[in-house]
Amino acid sequence: MTNIKACLFDLDGVIVDTAVYHFQAWRRLANELGFDFTEHQNEQLKGISRMESLELILNWGNVSLTEAEKVEWATRKNDWYLDLVKLMTPNEVLPGVAKFLTDLREAGIKIALGSASKNSKLILERIQMLDYFDAIIDGNNITKGKPDPQVFLMGAEATNALPSECVVFEDAVAGVQAAKAGGMKAIGVGSADVLTEADLVITTFEEMTLERLNF
Ligand code: BG6
Ligand code: MG
Repeated sequence: MTNIKACLFDLDGVIVDTAVYHFQAWRRLANELGFDFTEHQNEQLKGISRMESLELILNWGNVSLTEAEKVEWATRKNDWYLDLVKLMTPNEVLPGVAKFLTDLREAGIKIALGSASKNSKLILERIQMLDYFDAIIDGNNITKGKPDPQVFLMGAEATNALPSECVVFEDAVAGVQAAKAGGMKAIGVGSADVLTEADLVITTFEEMTLERLNF
């Protein structure tokens, strides 16, 4: 038995590897503005909203733009990103995710999305995973981005769970921090060297079982 009532999932880099598409589109933006950035720097963009990401990138390139130009470039980046998203298929759901979500459903544990993305419903439709989710909280619902816990606290409320009854799955440092700030357990998906504040780190959901929710 578990006291966990809800599992809250980040989308990009957890359910599906859209993190690589974000990286490609942001790099194209940087390149068109005359500079480049590394995969290591890209780590800082994970979990961060579109406009905040743009600010960070412009800083790296020492580029200053007017507010109107920023909106134009962010829109351009999103269009490039969506061109990649439109090509996505259900085969891109990361290994073990569908099985684990099915196990959660069968165990009566609620499933919510907690993502900074404004494109989350479109992506879940493309990969045919909308039906798994009892609640979807994303960039369209929140006023404060990760590492603020708002997105996950809203997910807990939407699934009628207390923060202490929730487990968050996150690939981003800012996302793990958001979960911890909300009083939730955080399971990192990725590298233990990067996700040092997570309670547990898995490389893929193939390692994940209902039993491992209790720690
Ligand atoms: C997060 C990603 O899930 O969503 C970030 O990790 C991204 O890289 C953010 O910037 C916002 O996404 P979108 O799709 O609204 O631009
Ligand atoms: Mg992510």
